[in-house]
Amino acid sequence: MDQEARLLAAVKTAQTKAYAPYSNFPVGAAIIADNGEVYSGCNVENASYPEGTCAEAGAIAAMVMAGGRKIQKIYVIGNGEGLVSPCGGCRQRIREFAHADTTVHICGPEGVRAVMKLHDLLPHSFGPEQLHTHSAQE
Ligand code: THU
Repeated sequence: MDQEARLLAAVKTAQTKAYAPYSNFPVGAAIIADNGEVYSGCNVENASYPEGTCAEAGAIAAMVMAGGRKIQKIYVIGNGEGLVSPCGGCRQRIREFAHADTTVHICGPEGVRAVMKLHDLLPHSFGPEQLHTHSAQE
């Protein structure tokens, strides 16, 4: 299986795990990190609507838990006609672990719909480099 097929399979499986009874909008995310490993996540809602978490946040948490630190590519999938691009908060979450070439692959049920650079989704971004107190915890 090539890398794109592997990531599409992972992101679709992640979407099936979504807990989205309030929005009925299941989302999946899958990261391939620089270590070659794939990490995935889904949105997890709850009765206090603003406290739900996005699929991207789950995938990032899985990556970090496993020791991954750099996102090579992130795939996001949602249903409907439009592009399900990461929300503003998730753009910042991805930014933390992105590098110059990190790409966001926006998918629908039929496959990849658009590929964007994180840099284009979040230009002039604030990141760890700006913090004087940024520790050496890499
Ligand atoms: N959602 C994500 O998980 N990722 C996105 O990129 C866009 C939105 C979720 C949040 C909420 O559970 C549902 O989609 C509807 O907004």
